Amino acid sequence: MKRIKIFDTTLRDGEQSPGCSMNLKEKIEVAKQLERLKVDVIEAGFAISSPGDFESVKTIAESVSDCTVASLARCTVGDIDAAWDAVKGAADPRIHVFLATSPIHMEYKLRMTPEQVVARTSEMVAYAKKYCSNIEFSCEDATRSDWAFMKTVVDAAIKAGATVINLPDTVGYTTPAEMRALIEYMMEHVPDSDKIEYSVHCHNDLGMAVANALAGVQGGALQIECTVNGIGERAGNTSLEQAVMAMHTRPALFGELPRIDTKQIYRTSKLVYNVIGQSAYNTQPLVGANAFAHESGIHQHGVLANKLTYEILTPESVGISKNQLVLGKHSGKHALVARIKELGYELNDEQIGETFIKFKELCDKKKVVTDSDIEALISNTKTTASENDRYKFVSFTVATKGREGVEGTICLRHENEFLETTYCGDGSIDSLYAAIDKLVCPPEHRLDKFIINAVSEGKDTLGEVILKLRCGEKTYNGRGLATDIIEASIVAYLGALNQFMD
Ligand code: KIV
Ligand code: ZN
Repeated sequence: MKRIKIFDTTLRDGEQSPGCSMNLKEKIEVAKQLERLKVDVIEAGFAISSPGDFESVKTIAESVSDCTVASLARCTVGDIDAAWDAVKGAADPRIHVFLATSPIHMEYKLRMTPEQVVARTSEMVAYAKKYCSNIEFSCEDATRSDWAFMKTVVDAAIKAGATVINLPDTVGYTTPAEMRALIEYMMEHVPDSDKIEYSVHCHNDLGMAVANALAGVQGGALQIECTVNGIGERAGNTSLEQAVMAMHTRPALFGELPRIDTKQIYRTSKLVYNVIGQSAYNTQPLVGANAFAHESGIHQHGVLANKLTYEILTPESVGISKNQLVLGKHSGKHALVARIKELGYELNDEQIGETFIKFKELCDKKKVVTDSDIEALISNTKTTASENDRYKFVSFTVATKGREGVEGTICLRHENEFLETTYCGDGSIDSLYAAIDKLVCPPEHRLDKFIINAVSEGKDTLGEVILKLRCGEKTYNGRGLATDIIEASIVAYLGALNQFMD
């Protein structure tokens, strides 16, 4: 039995989808967390697609040591050269070359004959192999390709040096039985199939990506390509957390389990949502607010009698802490550091210092500080707060003026100067945002998304605001955390504005 490998493409297939873009700092933060999660491969980007993508693949390749780092490349010399330049500094680099094999893609997109596709595959895989021993080849749109023809392409790729063959369901069209049969067919008909690894890469257009990927594994695939939270083009990709936990919950149905540290799943999901300015839907498996909640009387009765009546896995197994009363007003830095370590975070001294200050501020406002609060403070420290921010939040007031609306007054610090102004608008947030605009004078922009979440339970819970600003083609995410939701909204807005004012 061979161990199933997890190939994470959050930073390539996930990041390239609308609304999921990340800046370099965020990508590195996510890559580091993926390493902690213990994925086998990080597909860090598509090096040729832009100088920014090249830079991030290169930086991730140089900063990660415990995972293979891959870059995507079309079957062209330019793409492969760029991919290699970007990944060559990695401890274990991989070039991921792809070419479409379905009739519709070959005729209308590539304008190539099937014979040309076979020849180009051989030529370009061999070209990539001169640089790197670890080569993955993908037959794009495999599930709409003719199997007998694709067998020839796969055979050519293996002969030219491919070590991993990926059969993507590019348009989310296949079904579990078909995916399993496809892998079985290739393993049976392609010579030397036992010397390489088959991989599945499924899109979720019909909601079957996880099921299809798992069926591929049952057919013999040893690698699952997936993204955190299933983010990706259209309806997204196979969700990493769902595929992994399905295998953990039903180990007898699959091969040797992936090496993923499942306790890092919730944290990874949160981090990815924070950086892309989104959040889990309530009923989202494993990471949604209701994923482990038992509301109905019958279920609660069963769970109290024996957890296993309605619980197939525990929240703790994905790293959701149920520890409620953790630290309080009288706890010192040592106690906080110990708790941060127990929760599995590695923070540098500066981050510990910042988290401690926020922790003390929070203790003044909130009676019970839970693990969820501490985790929220940590991810806030790691994702948004920056000493280099041009404009820093100082204070605000709001006053309702009856029919005239609400008057918001904001005070910011810019370099060593304090700036203050007032604006009367429709509501508290509307007036404060307009007042900030008066002080900061940002370029024209639009608020694309605005989400408010409660971090834990109770009236005094920390409020989290996640928003996305659009400025031309680019989007900027902001996140704010405070017991006062208006303050959290200001911090999130300033966080995003500071990025495009840089
Ligand atoms: O969906 C797909 O086919 C892909 C390939 C480039 C692997 O993302
Ligand atoms: Zn894809």
